[in-house]
Amino acid sequence: MRKLRIALTKGRLEKQTVALFEQMGLDCTELHNKGRRLILPVGDYEAVLAKAADVVTYVEHGVCDIGVVGRDTIVEYGKSFYEVCDLGLGKCDFCLAGKKGASFYGGYNVKRIATKYPNVARAFFQSKGMDVNIIKIEGSVELAPLLDLSDAIVDIVETGTTLRENGLEVYEKIMPISARVIVNTASMKLRRDEIDAFVEKIGKASQEAKV
Ligand code: PRP
Repeated sequence: MRKLRIALTKGRLEKQTVALFEQMGLDCTELHNKGRRLILPVGDYEAVLAKAADVVTYVEHGVCDIGVVGRDTIVEYGKSFYEVCDLGLGKCDFCLAGKKGASFYGGYNVKRIATKYPNVARAFFQSKGMDVNIIKIEGSVELAPLLDLSDAIVDIVETGTTLRENGLEVYEKIMPISARVIVNTASMKLRRDEIDAFVEKIGKASQEAKV
């Protein structure tokens, strides 16, 4: 049987996840010296480095058994897997934000909302019974209101620095976000013991990291 395969989100979350792996006593030498390699041994597991949305795809399709990914990606992209553990890492909030001092809810025009998360934005405004035009942006969403492409953005805010340094502010918090452990549904049935052991260990390490 192949090693249990764990998809890790590259970038911001990666360092913190690797720190947890170390806390679990896993040998992370290869991960530290990864170069441009994307599949690496970590202790008895195999780590796969992927973009957040692809972590969800690989776990949904069962080519990775486990994934570590932000709740923002889970809410935006899908749900056909088990979400088993909140690691409390990468804490931030989905927010509605825009130019400082502007009255977003004023006026009668249909508001334009720029976002990397169209499903999250749509659901948020639907829950308010508010009709909006959503404009999909791939990165640095803060540019959209600055260039007057949109009236506001729906995006993740961590420290608030990006908003502040660009003359923007939070209008409303939408939901809190943190990193989660997700598990493929078939793997959960077929390799339950190994998965339970991993989840217990990473959960414990994340608790210890909080202290
Ligand atoms: C995220 C988010 C904000 C920023 C918030 O972008 O989209 O732009 O981080 O963080 P802060 O509140 O600490 O400033 P990311 O850095 O992931 O890059 P991207 O927008 O180019 O994808």
